[in-house]
Amino acid sequence: MAVSASILKRIESLRAQLREHDFRYYVLAQPTISDQEYDRLMRALVDLEKVYPEAITPDSPSQRVGGQPTKEFQTVTHAVPMLSLSNTYNEGEVRDFDRRVRSVLGQEQFRYVCELKFDGVAVSLLFSGGVFLRGATRGDGTQGDDITQNLRTIRSIPLRVMKKKKGLKEFEVRGEVYMKREDFRRMNADRELAGEKLFINPRNSAAGTLKLQDPKIVAGRPLNFVAYYLRSTEGGLVGHHDNLTTLRELGFPVSQHSKVCKTVEAVVEYWKDWEKRRDSLPYDIDGVVVKVDSLAQQTRLGMIAKSPRWAIAFKFAARQATTLLHEIKLQVGRVGTITPVAELEPVFVGGSTVSRATLHNEDYIKELDIRPGDSVVVEKGGDVIPKVSSVVKEKRPPGTKPFAMPNKCPECGSRISRPEEEANYYCENSECPAQIRARIEHFAHRGAMDIEGLGEAVVDQLVGLGFVHNYADLYELHKRKRELVNLERWGEKSVENLLAAIDNSKQRSFSRVLFALGIRHVGASVAQLLVNQVATMDALMNASVVELQTIQGVGPQIADSVRRFLEDKHNSKIVEKLRKAGLQFEERLQRVVRQSPFLGKTVVLTGTLSTLSRDEAKEKIEELGGRVASSVSSKTDFVVVGADAGSKLDKAKKLGIRTIDEDDFSKLVSSS
Ligand code: IVH
Repeated sequence: MAVSASILKRIESLRAQLREHDFRYYVLAQPTISDQEYDRLMRALVDLEKVYPEAITPDSPSQRVGGQPTKEFQTVTHAVPMLSLSNTYNEGEVRDFDRRVRSVLGQEQFRYVCELKFDGVAVSLLFSGGVFLRGATRGDGTQGDDITQNLRTIRSIPLRVMKKKKGLKEFEVRGEVYMKREDFRRMNADRELAGEKLFINPRNSAAGTLKLQDPKIVAGRPLNFVAYYLRSTEGGLVGHHDNLTTLRELGFPVSQHSKVCKTVEAVVEYWKDWEKRRDSLPYDIDGVVVKVDSLAQQTRLGMIAKSPRWAIAFKFAARQATTLLHEIKLQVGRVGTITPVAELEPVFVGGSTVSRATLHNEDYIKELDIRPGDSVVVEKGGDVIPKVSSVVKEKRPPGTKPFAMPNKCPECGSRISRPEEEANYYCENSECPAQIRARIEHFAHRGAMDIEGLGEAVVDQLVGLGFVHNYADLYELHKRKRELVNLERWGEKSVENLLAAIDNSKQRSFSRVLFALGIRHVGASVAQLLVNQVATMDALMNASVVELQTIQGVGPQIADSVRRFLEDKHNSKIVEKLRKAGLQFEERLQRVVRQSPFLGKTVVLTGTLSTLSRDEAKEKIEELGGRVASSVSSKTDFVVVGADAGSKLDKAKKLGIRTIDEDDFSKLVSSS
């Protein structure tokens, strides 16, 4: 069908509106329309483009996720090399830098621009005629990988500039692709539940994501961009600070925290200030960058080796320290997961003394070649769990041996094994004492059976004394009341309280019971999902793997895990004991859901709802046959958006997932 001028005009107008709203949303963080309105505009555009495919242009807001997976990235050569910065960590060295600048510039006036040093991945973006043409990694500074398709999916990178500007027909923008800490955490939590390999930190996951060959997967990951460099092929630019302003006018996200500093004292002040405030940012920074503002002066200052003489990275004191790794111990979790842990010579890092740190898994240890006896770098990131981040190979004493994963469980001596495609080893003995303790702790945990007073120490004691072998034994503990009262640290009152709390837990819903059982891959929301469709334990026991998989959100891995757990003789004995003890094996409040807009749908809640708490909204959705997920992915059906919604909303928009506001949500709930 030929495209008439008026249709083209309509298409262009929709695109312009969508660009404007993307800019307001992603760059200014000040949206002016509701998500529904945005979705309507996008749908109108997509519909028109379906009818008139010849009108589709690569810079259309509908064309972010396209293209086929690439086999290999093309190598590109940077027109101007992407330099790296020399690093300093203290005031003295910054003053040295300032002196060097002065010695070249003489009496001339100059000023610095201070910026945050984003801990992400540097990229270069080429624009021609206002349209995003090509994006590449830094690579070795001279040549990088062409990752245009991946970068196109990042919604804060404009596919077309907001404004055409004189002298900017062809230009290059450089900046950092990064992931917010919270998005990173959520993504990792999801990956853990799915048994996928975890990312180490936000920078790592941004870097790993940009290397993916399928832009569709990249589109589902929460990446952000911030611009900090502009270069025009026509010249004509005069100052870095002006360039930042121009970048923003063009529609690029630019940090609001950059600052012009006239003296080195002001620079040091800026650095000190951000060292204190870094945790208040939603993303990681590892220092500040100081740049001479004038581009002419930059040219005169030139470079030494691979770094410019007009800029320096002023890093924060690392939240890391070097210490001795005495031993690699294995910790056994609830489902038998074996986690290697470093036993360290105690060292003071980022405000506290650390003597143990995570080593993640076997691959991580092998990748870094971490050995007992090594001097290792211990790091405390934005999150508090310390980790071993590298080995000081020069300090390695003679006679160390590469780490080899033992083939036996450190607790019970049973064989351990690593399933294909998983990063973890598991202890196969479900009677392993470490597993027994961890399972009982999980069972009693607040989100599960919520048994007050049954924490780690008490569980240790009860299991150690042989009073309890599994969580079903808890319900027979009352028979040993006298013995308990006579135990050290216990008395009449505390024993009574514990027994009452155990008895009380019999009231917990079936979905909680199912979660408490500690079946691998069955977290609280999967348990609810199962219970919504299979309302009784008996029905669940009779359901086949195939039947289980018909439940939305239950894949082969979960189905298989449930089946295996319930088929296991030992487990089924325990389950029968729980039944006899009087635990809930049926979902009592189950409404028969016939028709509901939530039936079989995966819903994500974000922001604050004014009439319902998160938990209440979740309950409603689940009652109506839906599942509530914690993060937005391509599997999400819709997102309920309350006030002050954050990154989940970004992601929903990025993926083109339907969003509904609180009003619509209430209407849907009450009409079902
Ligand atoms: S300017 C010559 N500005 O730090 C100018 N870099 O070692 C080089 N970085 O590869 C870049 N935040 O990945 C600049 N505000 C910022 C930055 C920044 C982070 C990274 C970037 C670069 C590395 C330099």
